[in-house]
Amino acid sequence: MIITKAEYLSSEVDWKACPGGNFPEYAFIGRSNVGKSSLINMLTGKHNLARTSGTPGKTRTINHYLVNDSWYLADLPGYGYAKVSASERKKWEEMIRLYLCGRPNLVQVFALVDARLEPQQIDLEFMNRLGAWKIPFLILFTKTDKVRPLKLKAHVNAFLQKMEASWEVLPDHLLTSAQDRSGKKEILDRIAAGNLEFHPGIKIPGSGNKSN
Ligand code: GTP
Ligand code: MG
Repeated sequence: MIITKAEYLSSEVDWKACPGGNFPEYAFIGRSNVGKSSLINMLTGKHNLARTSGTPGKTRTINHYLVNDSWYLADLPGYGYAKVSASERKKWEEMIRLYLCGRPNLVQVFALVDARLEPQQIDLEFMNRLGAWKIPFLILFTKTDKVRPLKLKAHVNAFLQKMEASWEVLPDHLLTSAQDRSGKKEILDRIAAGNLEFHPGIKIPGSGNKSN
């Protein structure tokens, strides 16, 4: 898929205030600083479309981007950011939950995991929550340019192995880098396939999480 147009639409706290229209939507979620906003810029080929920062906690609202006048990307605030107050963090998490469970045109969630790190409990727990909410998702390992191939493989395998404890069927995963643009074609292929299957108002059925 070729991206010919990508524009910023809105920043909202309440999913009900997010842009309307029966466009298929793809959301990026993951720990603060994992690279959600950077990946949106990489995919759209627009360096400054989504605001990025070396300091975690940059994105604090649900930000919508309209691509090729026909589908949405949603950039979400990260979870697990330690430096905000507990009440603020709870508010973000509730905002994310309401959005993920309520947004009717959400086709696919991309759940980002930092490939530089050993499996993090907070990510594993979030994947389980997605499963419990029956949100279909694909795992994107990010910042792969920063990890040597052997270590990358070890981190990915370790993460998937941990997931096997609670998942019957593991979600698919892709290796990505906003830096060297790896994974771009694969992600856009998934989006193109999702666009073809999109029927307004119909949610794609849930996941293979054992706790369902
Ligand atoms: P919050 O909005 O705070 O939740 O963060 P985010 O997940 O949107 O992360 P963001 O895209 O702002 O990136 C965080 C930092 O990681 C920035 O300094 C980016 O330049 C860097 N970064 C993101 N993706 C990559 C990548 O693929 N490779 C490298 N080397 N750095 C990356
Ligand atoms: Mg961000």
